[in-house]
Amino acid sequence: MSAIRIAVLISGSGSNMAAIADHLSERSDVEIGIVVSDRHDVAGLLRAEERGLPTTVVDWKSFPDRETFTAAVCDVVDASRCTFMVLAGFMRILAPTAVERFPGRILNIHPSLLPSFPGAHAVEEALAHGVRVTGVTIHVVDELVDNGPIVAQESVDVFPDDDAASLHARIQTVEHRLYPQVVADFVIGGSEQR
Ligand code: GRF
Repeated sequence: MSAIRIAVLISGSGSNMAAIADHLSERSDVEIGIVVSDRHDVAGLLRAEERGLPTTVVDWKSFPDRETFTAAVCDVVDASRCTFMVLAGFMRILAPTAVERFPGRILNIHPSLLPSFPGAHAVEEALAHGVRVTGVTIHVVDELVDNGPIVAQESVDVFPDDDAASLHARIQTVEHRLYPQVVADFVIGGSEQR
């Protein structure tokens, strides 16, 4: 049986994408078909190229609105024969049409225990609120931001002397262990149901 192909969408350093790629390189049932970024100056693109992964940029700035940008992203994913989308630090909100085209087949990772601290500043907000425990959430993407059904969560303790950098570094250690395994299990499970 041929491998299930996934698209990984990035906007940043791509460390989660790299962790997923490294995990999948040791198995034959799931593979990354394309790494997509929303800008050209995304550090993670280099990491993908170093691993021999195909990359493409769907430049956010060259689209008039979210709908046309989303359609272009979905077209790239389709053209790459990928059936799942994995958001790994992708900082653009996709239009609901993405969920219509890939229903239940888009995963996201978020650096807090959702539903606490949705949005782009989850680590800073957890510190500002003085929570003692935060964590990592992996969820299915629905029409709302950081909202869909939760697939996996793991807690991370907040230490009294933490700043955003130290806390995010510990959160990322968990992300890099958790996301590759959850992505693989989810994709295999989702494909069996189709
Ligand atoms: C991760 O912490 C993820 O939870 C958040 O963005 C960060 C992406 O990091 N959504 P990287 O680009 O994978 O290094």
